Amino acid sequence: MSTTLLLIALSALQGADAWGGLGHQTTGFIAQNFVHPATEAWAQNILSNTNSSYLASVATWADSFRYTDEGSFSSPFHYIDAEDDPPKSCNVDFERDCGDAGCVVTAIANYTQRVQDGRHSDQEIDYALRFLVHFIGDITQPLHDEAFEIGGNGVNVTFDGDDTNLHSVWDTSMPEELVGGYELEDAEAWAANLTTEIRNGTFAASSKSWLQGLDIEDPKASAMVWAQDGNNVVMPDGIEPLEGNDLYPGYYKGAIDTVELQIAKAGYRLAAWLDALAAKSDVSKRWQPREQYWKIGTQGVKLEQDFSGSDLLREPRAAKSKAKMRRQAIGWGCGHKH
Ligand SMILES: *[C@@H]1O[C@H](CO)[C@@H](O)[C@H](O)[C@H]1NC(C)=O
Ligand SMILES: *[C@@H]1O[C@H](CO)[C@@H](O)[C@H](O)[C@H]1NC(C)=O
Ligand SMILES: *[C@@H]1O[C@H](CO)[C@@H](O)[C@H](O)[C@H]1NC(C)=O
Ligand SMILES: *[C@@H]1O[C@H](CO)[C@@H](O)[C@H](O)[C@H]1NC(C)=O
Ligand SMILES: *[C@@H]1O[C@H](CO)[C@@H](O)[C@H](O)[C@H]1NC(C)=O
Ligand SMILES: [Zn+2]
Repeated sequence: MSTTLLLIALSALQGADAWGGLGHQTTGFIAQNFVHPATEAWAQNILSNTNSSYLASVATWADSFRYTDEGSFSSPFHYIDAEDDPPKSCNVDFERDCGDAGCVVTAIANYTQRVQDGRHSDQEIDYALRFLVHFIGDITQPLHDEAFEIGGNGVNVTFDGDDTNLHSVWDTSMPEELVGGYELEDAEAWAANLTTEIRNGTFAASSKSWLQGLDIEDPKASAMVWAQDGNNVVMPDGIEPLEGNDLYPGYYKGAIDTVELQIAKAGYRLAAWLDALAAKSDVSKRWQPREQYWKIGTQGVKLEQDFSGSDLLREPRAAKSKAKMRRQAIGWGCGHKH
């Protein structure tokens, strides 16, 4: 895709919720429709849930977890603040854009490693899978791949008369306007529609291309392809036409096809990613004795291994960019919730 597509003015992502509940659950249901039966069994085992919404019902967990004391560390994992210059120039640069504590790209890489690492506890592996289901959704939301105005959170608009901001319009207002609700059943119905469009409809011809660059052996590079793809969906006219205006129905009509496209991509990629993970997961590696957590250092001293994924991060910087400081100042959480 390119800047010729309409879309987002540069918005960016920001710390908010990425897709709202409806978008994330729809992504989960689409993935359920596409995964291999062996993947379904693998995921249901990890999640201890065999019901008809085993992925969809954990798809928003990460947005609740981030607001707990235990989970606050994961707030920066929902986005990558690309400090590009839309609409003139759009791009994501890992070294420039990923924050000191990580971003959605490192998070996808980290939890891809963790979900297949049997040295972690069952609960850590369960969390890793929940994070992946969520973040592969977040990374397709264009405003989660752009720093402009904190992912569009700073662009005040109205939507059908309600005061909101550009980020929330993408996460929540446009999906809910299209579907007419935000319950689990609404997500299931939307997913059924998009699944048919992928199998035998509008998306049948292009869906294979959505998996380009997907390499389970290089999760960071794969996630960068997805971030770049989301970031590409930028509105060429800048935000001036949006700020202070009602985005319904004009802007909505121009953008809703892209919303559907991105949700469909997220679900389809999630299925392919989980298939690849399940295929290489070695169940016998689980339940290794606790000793496996240690390696022997010099003079026979046992050292605890580093499982923090810190090697995925870039070098921290002494000075933060203006965009990173603004992000920090909003305290990470300005999502629109029901
Ligand atoms: C499936 O299980 C989850 C987790 O227990 C629950 O939240 C959800 O409501 C269940 N869904 C159905 C359709 O039973
Ligand atoms: C946008 O709205 C918020 C309150 O919702 C307000 O604090 C902020 O100043 C507004 N920004 C602009 C640029 O008008
Ligand atoms: C999906 O929904 C749209 C809009 O309601 C409709 O036009 C289209 O035919 C539906 N596709 C399928 C495969 O049902
Ligand atoms: C795909 O759609 C076409 C036209 O809508 C229909 O004739 C055909 O039976 C469908 N194929 C499948 C496999 O559903
Ligand atoms: C990897 O995941 C663990 C467990 O959630 C977390 O403590 C760590 O900070 C993560 N590392 C990165 C680089 O995201
Ligand atoms: Zn999120």
